Amino acid sequence: RTRVAIIGALPEELEKLKTLLSDIKELQHGPFQYQQCKFEDIDCLLSLSGIGKVQATMLVQHICDTWKPDYFIFTGVAGALNKQFDTGDVVIGTEFIQHDLELNALGFERGEIPYTGEKVFHACDFLTKMATSFKTDNHKIYQGRILTGDQFITHDHVKPYFTDELAGDAVEMEGAALAFVASRHKVPFIVLRTISDRADGNAACDFNTLLPLVADNSCFMVKHILESL
Ligand code: ADE
Repeated sequence: RTRVAIIGALPEELEKLKTLLSDIKELQHGPFQYQQCKFEDIDCLLSLSGIGKVQATMLVQHICDTWKPDYFIFTGVAGALNKQFDTGDVVIGTEFIQHDLELNALGFERGEIPYTGEKVFHACDFLTKMATSFKTDNHKIYQGRILTGDQFITHDHVKPYFTDELAGDAVEMEGAALAFVASRHKVPFIVLRTISDRADGNAACDFNTLLPLVADNSCFMVKHILESL
């Protein structure tokens, strides 16, 4: 049986999905809490990471060690950097960079993992194709490069390098952490993000208002991928 670990940073991001899964069993393992469940003939692990790269890293490493998933899917919201994106649209993350990893003074590029030559991490093509085939009239679906860092980005934080140097389409706080750990363990992954704000002066307000309304958009895409596997 195929094993898919599904992660969200916040409860709102997984809410809808819970209603679509069956045989939900609550599990606790040290500091980790998750639900093991089924979607047709697929075994799923549903888990909340909390916000930020550290919490996401910790959870993904733990799941790799103990549950041995065939795939990771991260679903949640993101701030738009690409001007084309509207709130409610879904971005399928194809590339990931840690925007707050910066050792320029030592000769490394922004986002580069020192002494490895790695900077951009790639989502699984197979999962990306499945996500792209999702049909909906309610919102647009884009592919894009996701920038990840431990900051909620608002007008004050947006620097020209987000778009000029790093060519980011959306910004969030966990994707590149999952991308790094999953890549190290050779577990294919995908990140699906609904746009909740434009990472500008209204970001906090839009995020709080739109999170419960739009988080479902990427959840429905997770369901579509599970049906396609
Ligand atoms: N997630 C959703 N909106 C965000 C923003 N503006 N910055 C960082 N993460 C986000």
